[in-house]
Amino acid sequence: MTNSVIVNRKINSFKKTISVSGDKSISIRWVLFSSLANGISQAKNLLISEDVLAALNAIKELGINSIIKKNKCIIYGKGISGYNYKKNITIDAKNSGTLGRIILGLLINSPYPIKLIGDKSLSKRDFNRVADPLQKFGARFLLTNKKNLPLKIYGSKNLRTINYTETKGSAQCKSSVIFGGMRTNGTTIIKAKKSRNHTELFCKYLKLPITINSKKNYDIIKINKVKKINPINYNIPSDISSSAFFMVLTALSKNSELIVKNVNINPSRIGIIHILKKMGVKITYKNKKIYKGEKIADIKIKSPRSLKSINCPVKLNTGAIDEFLVIFLLASKAKGVSYFKNLGELNQKESPRLVWGSKILNKMGVKNFLTKDSIKIYGNPKLTINKKIIIKNYLKDHRIFMTSVIAALSFGGSWNIYDKDSIKTSFPNFLKIINKLKK
Ligand code: S3P
Repeated sequence: MTNSVIVNRKINSFKKTISVSGDKSISIRWVLFSSLANGISQAKNLLISEDVLAALNAIKELGINSIIKKNKCIIYGKGISGYNYKKNITIDAKNSGTLGRIILGLLINSPYPIKLIGDKSLSKRDFNRVADPLQKFGARFLLTNKKNLPLKIYGSKNLRTINYTETKGSAQCKSSVIFGGMRTNGTTIIKAKKSRNHTELFCKYLKLPITINSKKNYDIIKINKVKKINPINYNIPSDISSSAFFMVLTALSKNSELIVKNVNINPSRIGIIHILKKMGVKITYKNKKIYKGEKIADIKIKSPRSLKSINCPVKLNTGAIDEFLVIFLLASKAKGVSYFKNLGELNQKESPRLVWGSKILNKMGVKNFLTKDSIKIYGNPKLTINKKIIIKNYLKDHRIFMTSVIAALSFGGSWNIYDKDSIKTSFPNFLKIINKLKK
């Protein structure tokens, strides 16, 4: 069976309503919190993807069972101290930075060393960014090349609280330390650059001993030892990062309209919405509600007559961090030069995405100027592609695969995009929804 797709036709105009799968960040957090709960937690619309299955396997290694029945997942928690640590266990985070980094916070009190491994892409990523703060609690780490997987974490019985300043805007680092603080007597204090706050919203909903003092550019988070977590029944909203591919496809198509149902529009995640609006795209929300602290709405988007270029405000970077590859496609069709800066973090993702963004644009014939943390894109409102393009050897980064499909459907050309299986990590239904839009 071939693991590549060929896309050689632009998509026709469409007017459709779609639903995308559950939010990945919330799904993984639900698994981790539920693994610590006293009793049975249930989730509907949990994202069933390799990253989330890796989370369920990880808690299984720690003695916590779960089952998936149709669209429902059940986790049998045994309480905050319910992990059954055995000697010599290995946790495989596969492709998931979120799982690999956040779970370490929960393991700082393990009586036995635990090995953490991941796939080729994850093994290239920086784990010292979490090992460094977590070892201040008293845990010890042995990392490959001082920063990579495989790593070993040696927990401690004598944990101490820490003061930690998070400067990258990494929700994974912040969340890992929040979980560490939950295991430690006393108050851990985090000063964190603003980033997605799903972990904090879980803590608040669960009435855990946490306070958050929100300043303009950062939050002060104080977390105390957690004694008990109640089971969590959660109806997971759809993922804005998955929705983004179709929103951008709509914005790049003529006379098209799309509604994406029941999407998580947490203010820390909607950089893509702000950017689309700034570029001249009309977006409205319908059926707005708040669910367990998370904002949710149906998103309606119409294709614009033309797209404006953007000098992207740095303050939007963190909230759009997973969407930049498709945002670069928007810039390719905008009138004028777009500029994206302070984006070094983009090269720390499943692949070096800033570099790959530029590579894809080069293949498309779009003039761009890349530095180590910025890119200038020279847009062309009449952009069409008439050549063959091959996309491969990109560390199976799911977002590169999906971005390439969107580019092919928007600009034409004959694209051969390898490693279709990459979408299994975050969005197994992606191609099915594309087919729905084509009909
Ligand atoms: C995530 C945080 C972000 C994001 C990732 C998911 C999370 O990573 O890119 O896809 O769920 O906490 P960083 O925390 O490294 O910025």
